[in-house]
Amino acid sequence: MKTKTLAFIGGGNMASALIKGLIEDGTPPQNILVAEPDDQRREQLAASFGVRTVDDNSLAANEADILILAVKPQVLKAVATALAPALKRKKPLCLSIAAGIRHASLQAWLGEDIPLVRVMPNTPAMLGAGASGLYAPASVGDDQRSEAEHIMRATGIAVWLDDESQMDALTAVSGSGPAYFFLFMEAMENSARKLGLPDKTAHLLVLQTALGAARMAMESATELEDLRRSVTSPGGTTEKALDSFREHELEKLVDKALTAARDRSIEMSTAMGED
Ligand SMILES: NC(=O)c1ccc[n+]([C@@H]2O[C@H](COP(=O)([O-])OP(=O)(O)OC[C@H]3O[C@@H](n4cnc5c(N)ncnc54)[C@H](OP(=O)(O)O)[C@@H]3O)[C@@H](O)[C@H]2O)c1
Repeated sequence: MKTKTLAFIGGGNMASALIKGLIEDGTPPQNILVAEPDDQRREQLAASFGVRTVDDNSLAANEADILILAVKPQVLKAVATALAPALKRKKPLCLSIAAGIRHASLQAWLGEDIPLVRVMPNTPAMLGAGASGLYAPASVGDDQRSEAEHIMRATGIAVWLDDESQMDALTAVSGSGPAYFFLFMEAMENSARKLGLPDKTAHLLVLQTALGAARMAMESATELEDLRRSVTSPGGTTEKALDSFREHELEKLVDKALTAARDRSIEMSTAMGED
């Protein structure tokens, strides 16, 4: 893996997050090649990471052992169909991180015999705290799966999905998920201010509490339900707040919201595949 050439098509935010993680993990910068149309962006990438850059996608594809498609979904069809002839010779492992573009659509654009893994990362990848879902059909072998997983682990955790339809649920959970937590933190912050805490104090307390709770949940083997019970004394303050959430059917609200996100993901994927 450390001797292979990794080529990125598109050198934007998500590509930068992956490049940073890969270099920190020991991938030599000279083994990373980025195809990016914007001159300034190319200079920035070369200066920040020491990677090689080109302005021609096919040049990058010719050299790639592994190709990561990191352009916006709206341009992916044009980019992928233009790359197809260059991929025919070497047939590199391809990863697509484009939201909402189904495996079958991309496979048809790139060529049916190109090994292809579909990935859905999320924004905390920028901090190395991402959560990515990966899907590939059975034709993609174990070695290629482990290469794809290694790349995505550079920005956080990576989980495999057995069935591509689970990608829509994953989008509703981890893809859109950071925004749900931001909303909840905003609501707590607003309430903390109303209860009389200064702005800065309210902000810090909410953020640190969210981080502390997430770390407790990550770092202990205890179930979430038991963690919740362990901080809820009968007749105490926490119980009062939780009773109020229950009375207003928080769980039902969360379920409705995630189902709506999942359904929208299905709708968008269908529309993008038809374009
Ligand atoms: N950011 C996220 O949190 C996130 C989460 C999940 C999935 N994704 C997926 O990751 C992909 C990239 O997202 P991003 O946020 O990194 O977008 P981005 O910052 O806009 O990066 C895309 C890059 O591709 C370049 N580009 C445009 N047309 C190109 C072409 N024909 N050939 C080569 N490069 C081209 C863009 O250059 P110009 O700016 O000059 O157009 C830009 O630098 C998307 O498909 C998105 O769905 C992102």
